[in-house]
Parts: sequence; structure tokens; C-alpha cells
Amino acid sequence: PFDWYAEMRQDDPVRYDERRQTWDVFRYEEVDRVLRDHETFSSDLTTADIQPPRVGDDDSGFRTMLRADPPDHGRLREFVNERFQPGTIRQNRARIEELTVKQLDQLEDERRIDVVSDLADPLPVSVIAELLGIPTDRREQFKEWSDALVTPDAEDTEQAHETQRQDAWTEMQTYFSELIDERENGGGDDLITLAATARELDREETIGFCILLLIAGNVTTTNLITNAVWCFEEHDVTERVRSGEIDRTQAIEEVLRYRSPVQMVRRVATEDVKLGGRRITAGERVTPWIGSANRDPTMFDAPEAFRPERQPNPHLAFGRGIHYCLGAPLARIEADVALGELLDRFSTIEPDLTDRTPRPTFHGLTALPCAVGR
Ligand code: HEM
Repeated sequence: PFDWYAEMRQDDPVRYDERRQTWDVFRYEEVDRVLRDHETFSSDLTTADIQPPRVGDDDSGFRTMLRADPPDHGRLREFVNERFQPGTIRQNRARIEELTVKQLDQLEDERRIDVVSDLADPLPVSVIAELLGIPTDRREQFKEWSDALVTPDAEDTEQAHETQRQDAWTEMQTYFSELIDERENGGGDDLITLAATARELDREETIGFCILLLIAGNVTTTNLITNAVWCFEEHDVTERVRSGEIDRTQAIEEVLRYRSPVQMVRRVATEDVKLGGRRITAGERVTPWIGSANRDPTMFDAPEAFRPERQPNPHLAFGRGIHYCLGAPLARIEADVALGELLDRFSTIEPDLTDRTPRPTFHGLTALPCAVGR
């Protein structure tokens, strides 16, 4: 999409797409404005004149912070904010390392691995399952739901996928409802208990919160880990990251900018507004392209170059404003740990990039086979 973004930033930075029935926004300045100005650009898509087609990143039907405006937004987010602060989330680092090591131990003497199915897919699911306090014997099920919700199976027809989605939704609701019942009296320090005992949330909102964490944190983090291995290979920096010559956390920020797992978000205009010289009418849908803003030359020097030491790096990969990604500190740690352990374990990692299948909806790959040495 990157050539298309560049063309659009130049020729048509704010333009209406008749087919998708939404305003596309391509430049950093306007994307930043839309994200910050939550009064003019609502996250509650149900207020749109034209309902968007259902796509994978939707938490359809549930009122969650992701799709709420103030004051509801604060109510739905504040009870959990503290748990995701960098300092608090860092306490989970050792456990994330353990989970990563366990995952990599299964590879024994393999000479070929798939970064996606062997690490990047399972890791975020098990981390979020632990934080929520999902019983061990239900983890497999948990993983299937998360897949059914976000990754349309390429072989399936749209219809079959929709049925699968519906089934997953119903099952998940029942399942979380049972867990919430069990935990309403408190005691545990898991996130389901936290939500179940939060006075400001009703039952539906509590279920919505659990499902949102499951959806928002998995494919996105999978893609960040995969895209990091991909970018490092593509730009030949793996060895310099391994040796510490390039700071790993800084390199991951550049991956977030250069191959943003979430390329766009969605809003609805609440009033008539001028943006980039165009007039948007109340009720119309707006699509800020994060992936394009992150390559805007007015904000980044040589934006099409991958510069793992880029600083400052004010990318918008986690959004901006009140909806800024709750899980950003967690995603950063997971990526850092995953990359660190991969480089530790394998003396060489040679990704095969000849046969790349992009992930639908998000920016990433379905598989990343690598030849590895020890
Ligand atoms: C919101 C990206 C990982 C939970 C967002 C938004 C973006 C984003 C762009 C803003 C959406 C908007 O403004 O409409 C990412 C990326 C990730 C990642 C790129 C990984 C690399 C996670 C993880 C979790 C998480 C691991 C949870 C454990 C959330 C939640 C919101 C959110 C709950 C909604 C916040 C709100 O509306 O106030 N994320 N995310 N994300 N993310 Fe993430």
C-alpha cells in the first residue's frame, strides 16, 4: 500500500472513497488532528449515517472503550488503566520470558522454523490468557476464538466465515459470563476479577472488555514480532541488533513506524468540519491511515528508509489521544522479549521472503519460514 499512500499524500490527502463510503485521510497532520479531536471525530461507529461493513477488527455489538466517546470512554477504561502502565506491566517481564522460552523449547533441533506459528502467534495469546486468568485447560479454545474473530480463513467463503464468527461470539459470551460469575466476589488479581468487581461496568460491558482484550492484543502483537524479523532481514540489521550496536527497543519503534500492524482506524464526524481543505459532513465516516501518516516526509526524514536508530520517532502506530493503545507497554515488552530470545537461541536466522502472504485487515504475514542455525 505504501506507493498508494505516497501518491495520495501528494495528490488527494483527504478524499472521499465512493465504494467504501468513507473519507480517507493520509497526511500526518490531519491523521493526528482526527485522532486528537475526539469531539469532532467519534469512535462510536453506530452514529454513522452509513453503517460500515463488518470487518475483523470489530467488537460488534459490545460497548467497549474502543468504540466509546467520553464520558463512557473514561468509565470503560479508567478501572484498568493502572494495570497497563509501563511500570506495572514490567512486572510481567520474567513470566513473558518463561513463556517465550517454553515456546522455543518445543523446536528442539529444527533447522527450519516458522516465526509466526512457532512464536509470534502463540505468545500473545498465552500472555493475555494469563493476564485475564483463563484456566489452562481452556487455552486452546481461547486461541481458536481469537482466530475465528480476526483471521478470515482464506479458503472459506465470506458466508462460512460469518457463521464461524457468530458461533465464536456466542460461545465466548457464555464462557466469559461463567468466569465472571465465579469471580464476582473478588480475591484474584487477574483482569477478569478486576472487571467483574468494577462497580462502573455492567455485565455486558464486562464481557465486552474481556473480548476486546482478546481481539485487540493478539494479531497486532503477532504482526509486530513477525514484521520485526522481516524488517531486520530486509534491511540487513539483524547482526547489529544482536550485537547490541543497535538498540533493540529503538529498532522495534522503527518497525512500528515502518510496518505498522494497524494501518488504519475508523471514526465518524459528529459535525460538519473542514479537513485538509475538504468539507466533511456530520454523520460521514472517516478513515485515518496511520500507516500513511507514519511515512509522511513532512514528519520523518527519508520516511521510506528503515532506520532502526531513528530518533525521535513520533509514529502513530498505537494511535494518539484518549484511545491511545492500552496495551502499548505490553506489546513493546512482548516484542522485545520475543526478539531477544530468538536472537539468543539461534546463531543465524534467515527468513525466506519469496512467498509472502499478507494478513488480511492488518499489516503482517501469515507465515515467515526461516532457516536457523544454533
Ligand atoms: C487501541 C494498536 C497491542 C489493547 C489501539 C489503537 C491502536 C492500537 C492503533 C487505537 C485505536 C483507535 O484509536 O481507534 C496496537 C498495536 C499493537 C497493540 C499496533 C501491537 C503491536 C495491544 C495489546 C492490547 C491492546 C497487547 C491489550 C492487551 C488495546 C485497547 C485499545 C487499543 C484496549 C482501546 C483503547 C481505547 O479505546 O481507549 N491499539 N495495539 N493493544 N489497544 Fe492496542
